[in-house]
Amino acid sequence: MPDDAFKALHPVGVDGPRWRDGYGPLLADPLGFLQRARETYGDLVALTEGLPVLSRMPDCAGCVAVFGAEHVERVLLNPALFGAPGVAAKRHALSPALRRLSSGLFSMVGARHRDHRRLLAPALGKDAARRYHDEIAASVAALVGAWSPGQELNLLEALRGLTDRALGRIMFDQSGDDARSIGALARRLLTLRRANASAGEDDAPRVRDALIEVGDALERALREQVRRARAARAPARAPGLFARLCALAGPDGRALSEDELVAHGNVLFQAASEPVAVALTWAALLLTQRDDAAQALARELAPLGVDDAPARFERLAATPVTDGILKETLRLLPPSAVLVRVTSRPARLGDHVLPARTELLLSPALEHRDPRVFPEPNAFRPDRWRTITPSRFAYLPFGAGARHCLGGQLALSIMKVTLIELGRRWSLELAPGQRVDWTINVTLMPKSQPRVVLRRPGAPLTSAPLTGSLRDLVQLP
Ligand code: HEM
Repeated sequence: MPDDAFKALHPVGVDGPRWRDGYGPLLADPLGFLQRARETYGDLVALTEGLPVLSRMPDCAGCVAVFGAEHVERVLLNPALFGAPGVAAKRHALSPALRRLSSGLFSMVGARHRDHRRLLAPALGKDAARRYHDEIAASVAALVGAWSPGQELNLLEALRGLTDRALGRIMFDQSGDDARSIGALARRLLTLRRANASAGEDDAPRVRDALIEVGDALERALREQVRRARAARAPARAPGLFARLCALAGPDGRALSEDELVAHGNVLFQAASEPVAVALTWAALLLTQRDDAAQALARELAPLGVDDAPARFERLAATPVTDGILKETLRLLPPSAVLVRVTSRPARLGDHVLPARTELLLSPALEHRDPRVFPEPNAFRPDRWRTITPSRFAYLPFGAGARHCLGGQLALSIMKVTLIELGRRWSLELAPGQRVDWTINVTLMPKSQPRVVLRRPGAPLTSAPLTGSLRDLVQLP
């Protein structure tokens, strides 16, 4: 492996050819930075030498940004060569319970990852959308049905509430009202993890203690569910997706251990809840700015009525407007905007050989802006989906290849049901006097809580025009 492999790559630097410390501009505006790097230097860009950007990998050879469907395909289809960086995270866990809770699929590699993935996939596949439809719809309808006209909502918080509740019901057969429910604890864990990552010296001990305490409580609650599911006469038929997992046997015929189930239960909930809530928030926000799309949605949903019972699964088969809005939102604002991989040994990519332990950054958000596949790439045009079928490496909000999202179908189903149950009852107006800025905090999400006002469908809307950095990512009126 030649020492100068990195030097052969186009460099990006703040002051010099490569950074050795500080990624200010990248962290301040990661998507803008990567886009400019691509436009200036091409499809493979060395960002650092000797340091990772997003993983905490020790002995990192450097970080390279990878663009273009061909490179993305090579990386995502070769997990043995371009692996997931997850294992390092385990080493940084603050307590044994937190370490166990984060030991699900994301941090597994090799044969273990493949075996567990195969095992979990059927429980989350296509059938899950139909199986859980009624529960998701009833859970969402009950909440949005209790809202009142003129009420102001923190949109992200409200949609987290809807998503967590629906997921708590379908995964753990819990209503979600109880602060000790698994969904409530898992949400609290995520909030504390974020607080921990940004805590100052004064706050850090308090946040860490809270994190350890919530981790312990969540683990206890999950173990209790495992025991209850296993004590049931027919666990595979017990309500809740998690109970089905508890009945699974591995390739060697052995049941999953309690520790493995605890990890899968937590990681699945975490993997599902935040991206679904955030994607729905983006969709709802974009609709406040695009009256034409909001009207088209209202027309599609009008036959469902405002106050009727939740829409049945069969009624949702032909909803091209709703589908287009969701696909277009996931194109412009994919919650997993940047994916990370690590070379396990020297690896050829295009004309270059990357050293072992090179961190790779791939960005669905930028791949989704290729004008050859998506004309007017920054425009929110839900109707484009009536005519395009991009390849799975050009449009990849759920990833692609060996580690693609196991819950994609279920995610789309939850999002669709939520948008429908919400949209048939309410139109949303953006409240005045606020900016909508974006950030990447693992997920591409709003920096603060966007506020909206509820109106009945058909009522005249006077949404405030959206200001803030979201406009850098989406071209809006
Ligand atoms: C809008 C919602 C969602 C988005 C945008 C999303 C996106 C993604 C992406 C991009 C990946 C691949 C990450 C990578 O390659 O590094 C992934 C993996 C995964 N997702 Fe999702 N996801 C969503 C919802 C869900 C839901 C609802 C579930 C489960 C119920 C789920 C479970 C998983 C799991 C288990 C993996 C890891 C697969 C593996 O490592 O083999 N996701 N997701």
